[in-house]
Amino acid sequence: MPAYPDAEKLGEVETTLTSFPPLVFAGEARALKAELAKVGAGKGFLLQGGDCAESFAEFHPNTIRDTFRVLLQMAVVLTFASKQPVVKVGRMAGQFAKPRSSPVEAQGGVELPSYLGDNINGIDFTPESRIPDPDRMLRAYSQSAATLNLLRAFAGGGYANLRQVHQWTLDFVGRSPWAAKFTEMADKIGEALDFMQACGVDPSSVPQLQGTSFYTSHEALLLQYEQAMTRQDSLTGDWYDTSAHMLWIGDRTRFDGSAHVEFLRGVGNPIGMKCGPSLAPDALLRLLDTLNPAREAGRITLISRFGHDKVEAGLPALVRAVKREGHPVVWSCDPMHGNVIKADNGYKTRPFDRILSEVKGFFAVHRAEGTHAGGIHIEMTGKDVTECTGGAIAITQEGLADRYHTHCDPRLNAGQSLELAFLLAEMLNLELAGSKAEAA
Ligand code: PEP
Ligand code: CO
Repeated sequence: MPAYPDAEKLGEVETTLTSFPPLVFAGEARALKAELAKVGAGKGFLLQGGDCAESFAEFHPNTIRDTFRVLLQMAVVLTFASKQPVVKVGRMAGQFAKPRSSPVEAQGGVELPSYLGDNINGIDFTPESRIPDPDRMLRAYSQSAATLNLLRAFAGGGYANLRQVHQWTLDFVGRSPWAAKFTEMADKIGEALDFMQACGVDPSSVPQLQGTSFYTSHEALLLQYEQAMTRQDSLTGDWYDTSAHMLWIGDRTRFDGSAHVEFLRGVGNPIGMKCGPSLAPDALLRLLDTLNPAREAGRITLISRFGHDKVEAGLPALVRAVKREGHPVVWSCDPMHGNVIKADNGYKTRPFDRILSEVKGFFAVHRAEGTHAGGIHIEMTGKDVTECTGGAIAITQEGLADRYHTHCDPRLNAGQSLELAFLLAEMLNLELAGSKAEAA
């Protein structure tokens, strides 16, 4: 939690935020919970993605559009492969606050407080910029509101037209060095759309093909902001954090007695929780009892983030404990946060191979345990950045310097995100083949 030097100003900003309109409506959070309940029951897949940290500097309609577009493209590929609905949740419209491994940052012999996200302090390495400023919460609120407004317009206004989304994917496949690998599936999706059109099922006649539902999420780290955005739902009397549809608890704040757990326990939104190597099965069960005592389906998404070399050893014990106690959860895989390395030239990066290998390990564990590999949680952008190494275009360590723009962790670029979707589709196909064989 940041130490704001000006407590009076903090109080004023909190009062102001409390008077602002909610960004989401409680009924929408309940709709997402119902969709996640289906995913938990093995009848869907969760796709959650977006920036590691949104920033004031990168706030631009094209950035929002491009991330949204890549998420839609990924969702179409995953829907086709899994034959199940894909629930789309952006790490967007509110993902500002960042947990840091160290409270201080040293550069050239100078030590300053760490950058904590644009809603708290500034990224510039100066003493003034690193002072937590409550006014930043108001700017984050406005940016979130404008972002969410554009996302709603895209999702409902025709931009998400299924034909159009598939055409973008075909263009991508045509340019990808891995085209041969992806063409077959892309062609099959095209044929399915042609067949539907011949039967009279096309976007002009079926509104569902014109639009889509899209939800927002972020880490509920800055409790001053989250609390000020919490409102009582006039329909049910329950409390909801109206800053986003879904909120998650990070790996550093999910301990017994954490204020973040205590806060999220009291709101009705669907809740995510990061599960890293330091989480013991009994601690996880205590947290689940606290956060979901009524064992409501769709309430909890557990997002594992072990690292490519630890997932197969560490995840099974958690999966077994949760299954044994009968807690309904969605299991999702964050293959990003356990796979950060420092390149020789000092850049923080994530090798694409390791990301893929963690996803494969996640699927292997769930196949072995008889549980549903229910989702993926990624840091990505629709822009052509060079932050993660590898992928079809094979970004090298030297290439990282070209377009390294992230305000925090390295993100998959548009091409790498789509490649991951096609590779994930292969795994989902296997899962589908396995469950068909079982049924037979
Ligand atoms: C994040 O998702 O940005 C993050 C910091 O993850 P974790 O809490 O899993 O480290
Ligand atoms: Co991150």
